[in-house]
Amino acid sequence: MKIAVAYENGRVFQHFGHTEEFKIYEIDNDEIISSEVVSTNGQGHSALADFLFGNDIAAVICGGIGGGAVNALIDAGIKVYAGITGDTDAAVIALLKDELDYDTESNCDHHDHECSDHSCDHNNSCSGFNYVRKRLKKQDDIKEETIMNEVCEFLKKVGTYYLATVDGDQPRVRPFGTANIFDGKLYIQTGKSKDVAKQLLANPKAEICAYAEGKWLRIAGELILDDRIEAKKSMLDAHPSLRKMYSEDDDNTAVFYFQNATATFSSFTEAPKVVKF
Ligand SMILES: Cc1cc2nc3c(=O)[nH]c(=O)nc-3n(C[C@H](O)[C@H](O)[C@H](O)COP(=O)(O)O)c2cc1C
Repeated sequence: MKIAVAYENGRVFQHFGHTEEFKIYEIDNDEIISSEVVSTNGQGHSALADFLFGNDIAAVICGGIGGGAVNALIDAGIKVYAGITGDTDAAVIALLKDELDYDTESNCDHHDHECSDHSCDHNNSCSGFNYVRKRLKKQDDIKEETIMNEVCEFLKKVGTYYLATVDGDQPRVRPFGTANIFDGKLYIQTGKSKDVAKQLLANPKAEICAYAEGKWLRIAGELILDDRIEAKKSMLDAHPSLRKMYSEDDDNTAVFYFQNATATFSSFTEAPKVVKF
């Protein structure tokens, strides 16, 4: 995989549309294998997108960026990390550790220079602000959705996972099997009459452990009750066998979704993969 950083004298260049050099990093297994500074020959933003696409770039790190450029990059399947300042090597290392503090609100308006990039998506000035924010936010939502689907598919693959809750100062663990994505969140299902539900309502901290085919997954976070009928219906539709015991309008069915979750995929052979949702 390759990551390109808008580059000037070792630092992230702050106006994507005027980028004259990119530092391109070759990444393997979350490590930088090599890097080189390449010239863009002073091209405008749509040519820059073509240039990056042609160089097989998966992600771009930059400072300010206009709506037109965001469009061109995302449409080319290139992930955009905007609003970054400082040393380019440090930015790439932070991204690989999932610690890059990027924002979805960055465009040329955030910089104290005159914006003369006429290729930005804007009305008179470089102000496609809401548009850029929405597009970058959507990009993040898609990433989160992909991650959560991967986690949910793993839980479905194992069939049975183990859910730990806190009961005073005593951990409790039991086999569970329900998993469903609804409204962009990962849900599990239980009955309000069960101890597990009572424990979660008293203390939402929970952890799941699942194992299949040499890989194990742990999800640590908080499980929050969602009393919406639609959330329960979605769960029961995903697990129709539950309808023998539960229905969306009984007083017992309870669905909980993960918040502040950290999911870690581990194996004996590979470095752990940590995702948050
Ligand atoms: C394979 C398997 C999957 C299960 N899946 C669920 C589930 O998704 N939700 C649930 O409430 N109970 C499920 N159970 C039943 C719970 O493990 C059982 O009711 C347990 O006693 C609940 O924990 P508690 O006693 O601490 O409330 C499952 C049991 C097995 C054996």
